[in-house]
Amino acid sequence: MSTEAQPGTVTIEQVDAAATYPLRARVLRQGRPVEITGDDAPYTLHLAARTSDGEVVGVVRFHPRDCPWREAEAAWQLRGMATDPRVRGLGAGRALVAEGLSRVVALGGDLVWCDARAAAVGFYERIGFATVTEAYDLPPVGPHRGMLIELPIR
Ligand SMILES: CC(C)(COP(=O)(O)OP(=O)(O)OC[C@H]1O[C@@H](n2cnc3c(N)ncnc32)[C@H](O)[C@@H]1OP(=O)(O)O)[C@@H](O)C(=O)NCCC(=O)NCCS
Repeated sequence: MSTEAQPGTVTIEQVDAAATYPLRARVLRQGRPVEITGDDAPYTLHLAARTSDGEVVGVVRFHPRDCPWREAEAAWQLRGMATDPRVRGLGAGRALVAEGLSRVVALGGDLVWCDARAAAVGFYERIGFATVTEAYDLPPVGPHRGMLIELPIR
């Protein structure tokens, strides 16, 4: 299944973890191992945004994990969110998260949460997440805020 982010821009599709690694390495994890624990776990969902010529310009992953800040029946964590600087502001990030949220709902999830980098808090707010913590430090990256979105129960 695929979803158009904006006509003629990117297509969102499910991919193997390895397909997300080059962009994850460039944008998020300079100098750190590119793998995140659980990347190959059976329920981990990896999505990529591709241009019409097949280039991966956005990535994200979702996996089941209890939320530290709110009770939920079936919480999932969002991690590894990145878009290529050349496509920022064009909707690829929103399309990736929207597709992920709809798949999480289909899998019975009722909440998605993340440790949001301070510079990305505005992005998550813009797409419907709420900020639920003060700032906390996650070395080596720096300040983060806890954010979440509650999902309709299917
Ligand atoms: C954060 C990031 C994923 C956003 O991706 P993107 O492709 O630019 O997102 P979109 O174009 O879909 O943006 C959706 C909306 O959020 C806004 N937005 C995007 N980034 C924003 C930011 N950092 N602060 C405030 N608003 C932002 C966009 O302007 C757009 O607004 P609109 O509704 O008026 O159109 C991207 O900037 C990125 O990869 N940053 C570096 C890595 C990072 O911080 N990842 C998150 C780790 S927690």
